[in-house]
Amino acid sequence: MRIVLLGAPGAGKGTQCKYIVEKYGLLHLSSGDILRRHRANGTDLGKKAQKFMDSGALVPDNVIIDMMIDEIGKAPAGGFVLDGFPRTVNQAEGLDKALAGKNQKIDAVLNLSVTEDIVVRRITGRRICPKCAAVYHIENVKPRVDGICDKDGSSLVQRPDDTAEVVVTRLKNYNEQTAPLVDYYKSKNTVYTVDANREAEFVKELVFSKLDPLA
Ligand code: AP5
Repeated sequence: MRIVLLGAPGAGKGTQCKYIVEKYGLLHLSSGDILRRHRANGTDLGKKAQKFMDSGALVPDNVIIDMMIDEIGKAPAGGFVLDGFPRTVNQAEGLDKALAGKNQKIDAVLNLSVTEDIVVRRITGRRICPKCAAVYHIENVKPRVDGICDKDGSSLVQRPDDTAEVVVTRLKNYNEQTAPLVDYYKSKNTVYTVDANREAEFVKELVFSKLDPLA
């Protein structure tokens, strides 16, 4: 299966991808995580992306398309789930073109629908492990010890783009540049829209109900 997961910042794309990977054995390709890895490793790409990411702007299409096509090229035959890419119609066209060159296509598009007030609460309450990238929430997904990663004992941090001010910019960019992708994909694929306002385990069952028939 080759799946695209769409949804506003904080809709729960990364959270649902973990469940999808566990159940269907797909490779999880998160453009945000890949960019953050580049930053942590101090690569040129990471340095270039930094100012865009921290201000809530999108990284330029040409940089992202090349980076993600390269990652997709390394994916095993079982398939992948794309999280955070594509994020513009230009990126979606670049992806389609690259897949068509390999006689492949996207099999399903899942759109996580969530209200803006929930987005703000999820994003401002998110904490991450700087070492293993595990994701927590100060109310919804608490670590066993306050502020400490369950997996490796590191102190949890807030992403620089997870402040209330930057969320406003991210949501504006999402509405202007990414939301139109739902119509783009409706014109060529089946788009499954899932109500992602409920707790993660509940959303997971809705997601599975859409993907099970395709597996
Ligand atoms: P990226 O990292 O992709 O950020 P995003 O799309 O804004 O998504 P998030 O990671 O914020 O949220 P999510 O939907 O994964 O939610 P999560 O599961 O963590 O991108 C960051 C930046 O990189 C961009 O702003 C841009 O600059 C750049 N970039 C990336 N891709 C790009 C591209 N293609 N083109 C250009 N630039 C690009 O959940 C959020 C929180 O809520 C967590 O704390 C979680 O525990 C909690 N939670 C999740 N689900 C639930 C639930 N159902 N109930 C309660 N709590 C929940």
